[in-house]
Amino acid sequence: MTMREPASDYIVIFDTTLRDGEQSPGASMTIEEKLKVAEVLEDMGVDVIEAGFPIASEGDFQAVRAIAEKVKKSVVCGLARAHPADIDRAGEALEPAERKRIHTFIATSPLHMRYKLQMTPEQVLERVEESVKRARQWTDDVEWSGEDASRSDRDFLCRCIETAIRAGATTINIPDTVGYAYPEEFADLIRYIRETVPNIDRAVLSVHCHNDLGLAVANSLRAIQAGARQVECTINGIGERAGNAALEEIVMAIRTRHDVLPFRTGIRTQEIMRASRLVSAVTNFPVQPNKAIVGANAFAHESGIHQDGVLKHAQTYEIMRPEDVGLVKSSLVLGKHSGRHALRRKLQELGYDLGDNALNEVFARFKQLADRKKEIFDEDIVALVNEEAQGFEPRIRLVRLHIECGTDVQPTAEMTLEVDGEQRSARATGDGPVDATFRAIREIVPHRCELQLFQIHAVTQGTDAQAQVSVRLAENGRMVHGQGADTDTLVASARAYLAALNKLLAKRERGEPAAIAV
Ligand code: KIV
Ligand code: ZN
Repeated sequence: MTMREPASDYIVIFDTTLRDGEQSPGASMTIEEKLKVAEVLEDMGVDVIEAGFPIASEGDFQAVRAIAEKVKKSVVCGLARAHPADIDRAGEALEPAERKRIHTFIATSPLHMRYKLQMTPEQVLERVEESVKRARQWTDDVEWSGEDASRSDRDFLCRCIETAIRAGATTINIPDTVGYAYPEEFADLIRYIRETVPNIDRAVLSVHCHNDLGLAVANSLRAIQAGARQVECTINGIGERAGNAALEEIVMAIRTRHDVLPFRTGIRTQEIMRASRLVSAVTNFPVQPNKAIVGANAFAHESGIHQDGVLKHAQTYEIMRPEDVGLVKSSLVLGKHSGRHALRRKLQELGYDLGDNALNEVFARFKQLADRKKEIFDEDIVALVNEEAQGFEPRIRLVRLHIECGTDVQPTAEMTLEVDGEQRSARATGDGPVDATFRAIREIVPHRCELQLFQIHAVTQGTDAQAQVSVRLAENGRMVHGQGADTDTLVASARAYLAALNKLLAKRERGEPAAIAV
């Protein structure tokens, strides 16, 4: 089934968090995590979900296929270079999808054609025709992109677009691949394409802007004003290098400034915070506090004058209502006497709908935490959910950790883990207590992966705050990360390492090789 041509004021939201977003260095996700993100995107009303790049790896193929099986309302899209094998792999991965799209691309700028592709413009033009025709054999919803379009010769780009549409492309995407464009110039390119390409009215014009100069959202909005009707974007703006245009910023700009942007999207904006938190957790990319729309400070008023104004009339300093992006200030305070029902309600307020097993796990951890910490904040609950919500049964669990460290002792960790249901213990020393802890894990579960990142931050204020630890491990091109939270920093570190290791084992079991980049 193809996607309906959008009405003139309807902006198709094409989310590429799972493809371009996942290409952010270190942002790799497991299949289970991708499925969860896809579910939230679908719930949110995203029109097209770019689920991955199926030829890149077996894992990418499986993820696109799993999403194609699960998602019913959104169009599921797979990326393919202009090679027959890429296109066929995308077609195969998308086979189960109710609504599917193949997105095929080739570079059109002189720089890319000459140095990267080593092809002449005429050869590229031929490839455009062949690749789109091949993609049409799999689906009648085909998107074609001219990579580095914003640095391409305009007339050559227009010839490519005309060829792609003649070959059957139904969406034409204009990427600002290196984030070089300036808003007026980019809008002018969109207008030029609309005026020059004779068959342009047979396709939806789309834009895909990178944020190298911090202009991705501005460029996308100006392109919409100039006639683009699809925007490619990601949750929290993640993506290659400085990222892509942020979905939440585009959607809220359209909603808030309808006077100058008289367009509409199908996005249920109340789901924005939930999507942002989930993507941040599974990619291990924290959201900067001052990030527009989803940053922790986006709706916080610190100065006395501002607070006074907001109390008298919210619109004095608030151009959007926090609840419109899913930020609900809850009156429900959890403590050590709170039960499972209260926790479930709190989780729903925070945008999480956990199954019974996951709820039981989080509840057990919540009770332990409530015994050690007087006040339980929403952030504490989010940290616990992020850690527990792996989406698969972990093979290794932490049973016990005892650490000795200080000014005059060699740091030593004694640890018991449950591995595939069997308890195993080890004792290890190290350069510090964290090193000793990680060495003990390696004693019990021998493995040879590189620890690429170890980060600690306090979830809330106060000396009884939980520490949230993030760990990134890499092995043969497979990259995984894990998070752990606990009032004890060393326990949190062990949990984070084990979360990452469990993911690595899951990837290994599926035989996921290292990915190839676009
Ligand atoms: O930035 C880019 O050019 C891309 C294409 C594959 C659309 O991501
Ligand atoms: Zn891109």
